[in-house]
Amino acid sequence: MKFCILMGSPRKKGNTSSLLNPFLNELSACGAEHDLIWLYDKEIQPCIACRVCQADWSKFGCWYKDDVQEIFDAILSSDVIVLATPIYSWYCTPPMKALLDRLVYGMNKYYGEEKGPSLWAGKQLALITTCGYKPEKGADLWELGIQRYSKHSQLSYVGMLSERDLGYKHIFMDKEKEENAKAFARILWNTGRNEKEPENQRDRAIFEE
Ligand SMILES: Cc1cc2nc3c(=O)[nH]c(=O)nc-3n(C[C@H](O)[C@H](O)[C@H](O)COP(=O)(O)O)c2cc1C
Repeated sequence: MKFCILMGSPRKKGNTSSLLNPFLNELSACGAEHDLIWLYDKEIQPCIACRVCQADWSKFGCWYKDDVQEIFDAILSSDVIVLATPIYSWYCTPPMKALLDRLVYGMNKYYGEEKGPSLWAGKQLALITTCGYKPEKGADLWELGIQRYSKHSQLSYVGMLSERDLGYKHIFMDKEKEENAKAFARILWNTGRNEKEPENQRDRAIFEE
C-alpha cells in the first residue's frame, strides 16, 4: 500500500514536519511505501478556470506546464493521500490551496459539456495539521472543507490528526504527540488494508465518521 504525503508547511524543521516524522517512521515500520512532496519546493500555478483539462477524460490535461503533472501522477499511483499543513487563516497554506484547486478540476471531469468521471475516485484522504488554537477552533473549518471536497471528488475521507502549537516559546513536540502520530499511521495503514481487502472484517478506524 502506498501513501502520497503532500506537505504544505514552509518550515522544513517546523511543527508540522516534527509531527510528520514519527508518522512516516511508523508507516515505514508497518511496511507502507510513501512519496513525500514538499509543496513550497514546487511550482504550482493557480487554476484560472480555463477548462482545458475537461476536454480529455483520460488524463490531467492541464494547460500549465509546471510541477502539478508530477504531483498528479504521484497521487494516481498511491492508495492514500495525506495533506499535511499548518493552519493559516483557518485553512491550509497557499501552495496547498492552489494544488487543491488544480486537482478538483484536473481530477474531476465534471465541468465540460457532459459530466465525466473522477479520476481519483475511491482513494483515501487524511489530514495532519498543526495550529495555534485548540484543534476544534483552529482546524475545524479546514477539516469541514476537506470533508466536502472529498465527497465531491468521490474520495474516502479517513480522518485528521491535529496538534496544538502553544507558541514560539514552547517546545512543540512531546512524547504524547509522537505517540498520537504513530497511532494515526497505524490507523491509516489498517483502514487502507481493510479497504483493499473488503473480506477482512477488522474494526474500522476510530477516526471515521
Ligand atoms: C501566517 C500564519 C497564519 C496562521 N493562522 C492560524 C489560524 O488561522 N489558526 C490557528 O489556529 N493557527 C494559525 N497559525 C499558527 C500555525 O498554524 C502554527 O504555529 C503551526 O504549528 C505552524 O506550523 P509549522 O511550524 O509547520 O509552520 C498561523 C501561523 C501563521 C505563520
